[in-house]
Amino acid sequence: MKLDLLGDRQRTHYCGELRKAQAGQTVFLAGWVDVRRDLGNLIFLDLRDHTGKTQIVCNPARSAEAHDRAEEVRPEYVVGVEGEVVVRAPGTVNPQLATGEVEVMARTLLVLNEAKTPPFPIEDETKTSEETRLRYRYLDLRRGRMQRNLRLRHRANQVVRAHMAESGFQEIETPFMTRSTPEGARDFLVPSRLHPGHFYALPQSPQLFKQILMISGFDRYFQIVRCFRDEDFRADRQAEFTQIDIEMAFPQRDVLFELIERLIEKLFALVDVKVGRPFRRMPYDEAMERYGSDKPHLGTSLEWRRLHLEPAASEKVRVAQPLKAMRVPGWGGASRSQLDKLQETAKSLGADWFSYIKVTGSEAQSPLAKELGEPALAALAASLEAQPGDLVLLLGLKSAGGRNAFRTLDEASGELRLDIARKLDLLKPGAWNFLWVMDFPMFEYDEKENRFGAMHHPFTSPRDEDMEKLETDPGAMKARAYDLVLNGSEIGGGSIRIHRQDIQRRVFKALGLTEEKARERFGFFLEALEYGTPPHGGIALGYDRIIALMAGESNIREVIAFPKTASAADLMCEAPASVEPEQLDELGLELKSE
Ligand code: AMO
Repeated sequence: MKLDLLGDRQRTHYCGELRKAQAGQTVFLAGWVDVRRDLGNLIFLDLRDHTGKTQIVCNPARSAEAHDRAEEVRPEYVVGVEGEVVVRAPGTVNPQLATGEVEVMARTLLVLNEAKTPPFPIEDETKTSEETRLRYRYLDLRRGRMQRNLRLRHRANQVVRAHMAESGFQEIETPFMTRSTPEGARDFLVPSRLHPGHFYALPQSPQLFKQILMISGFDRYFQIVRCFRDEDFRADRQAEFTQIDIEMAFPQRDVLFELIERLIEKLFALVDVKVGRPFRRMPYDEAMERYGSDKPHLGTSLEWRRLHLEPAASEKVRVAQPLKAMRVPGWGGASRSQLDKLQETAKSLGADWFSYIKVTGSEAQSPLAKELGEPALAALAASLEAQPGDLVLLLGLKSAGGRNAFRTLDEASGELRLDIARKLDLLKPGAWNFLWVMDFPMFEYDEKENRFGAMHHPFTSPRDEDMEKLETDPGAMKARAYDLVLNGSEIGGGSIRIHRQDIQRRVFKALGLTEEKARERFGFFLEALEYGTPPHGGIALGYDRIIALMAGESNIREVIAFPKTASAADLMCEAPASVEPEQLDELGLELKSE
């Protein structure tokens, strides 16, 4: 079809702007055709842009030319319309549209571009598969919901920058082509042409650079920064994701917490959520014991307790000590199959001992009745303040072998707690339970590798009072690390760092890193530590997760313009892709055949 030129025409209004106040004005709107309705003598177009829609009327009695042009357009054609704003007759007002009281009587209709029939309709709610949405992301992003999400993200960026700048933080960019940083995931590598056989790593975070900036005297640094991690992807994880990365010299944890809490307060105000400050704080050990998670969802009051049975009793029922118990108020009527399913889940998570007590009236029913006897069960239920109608769940391990046995039990208990909370619909929507989890263990034991690994990262400072355990009992040390948690999601993590070279060396040693290996990997950093490093600490917030929670989205892909799939593929530009043999040649690389 013949297309029109925009020429020097200027848009006078966006498609969501016109109201009765503009009646009588001549306007020029431009956008995409959302819907076209042909009533024979009249053609109606809904013209759409990111602000909304306006109804355009093409009436041959007003402009035969515009009407003829309107016959040719289809959804997603790009058009410009000059015409008069008229007030709609009372019966034809559309209360669903912000512009629904008016319409534009077209005088000129310019068809600026055609469009193929889109593979899915451009609507807020869609049943289209995510694969198709990602393949045609440019169309998907036209949907109002995606427009709102990304525009919210833009506004959030302004809030972050203003808040950090007002608080004296400098925005400094750190490199993407760098050396491997130890955040615990695999690196994405970039081969070097000028240094064959050598590779850059894309940063898993700017951790070492921000610490070096403290050594350089920048004092307070922040960056909204992309990080790259080759790990297993889920709804809340992407291969490349964004952090609000923060570091400060001479840090006090409470000052940092307040800075972050005020930032979160301002961010959530963008979506009209009033955040209660200060946030609750909880030691890691308590979070694991009560909620079975280092990122507990506090939207339900369900909680576990460690329980010690009499030694004779625990022997009778063949469970290792301690076990865990949780009262589920009012769920005494849980069905056999519901309990079987829970047991299966528990087992799949490594907790191989499962039982329960149903409290009915003054009695307690349980598969343990034979071994323990009714009075002991009733006493057990009473010790958990169980009421008639309640269920008491018991979870344990048949044998407590292995260093991480209790962690396995705790983690299984946490999953079960969430499973039940979801099943019984106990997680109240609209509640914003922010929580600082603190005092993480310094190290965690890697049973496969048979050695300790850093729980946060190897630059995290131990608590001063634990320092002497570094060589004798590293497993019992606590770190000056903290996570920020919102409704069961880890939205940030950070720590006070090691600023002394002697301590950094001892920590590397505890991690089984030889001096030589440490030099090879972070020699530049160890050297920098020797030139007057101030005490420093910081945090990184998971920005995609925060925006997703603000936008009410359960998947971070919904707040990222061009995300990757669960297998880290970009379906729109088909990345990753193979490259020309010459490119490999230049890099000195050769592919192994399958
Ligand atoms: P950490 O590894 O805890 O800390 O990361 C900080 C926050 O980033 C988010 N996050 C992710 N979001 C999306 N996709 C991912 N693959 C992903 N991985 C992490 C989480 C997490 O809480 N350098 C340290 C910070 C510091 O110590 O200052 C770091 O990166 O919300």
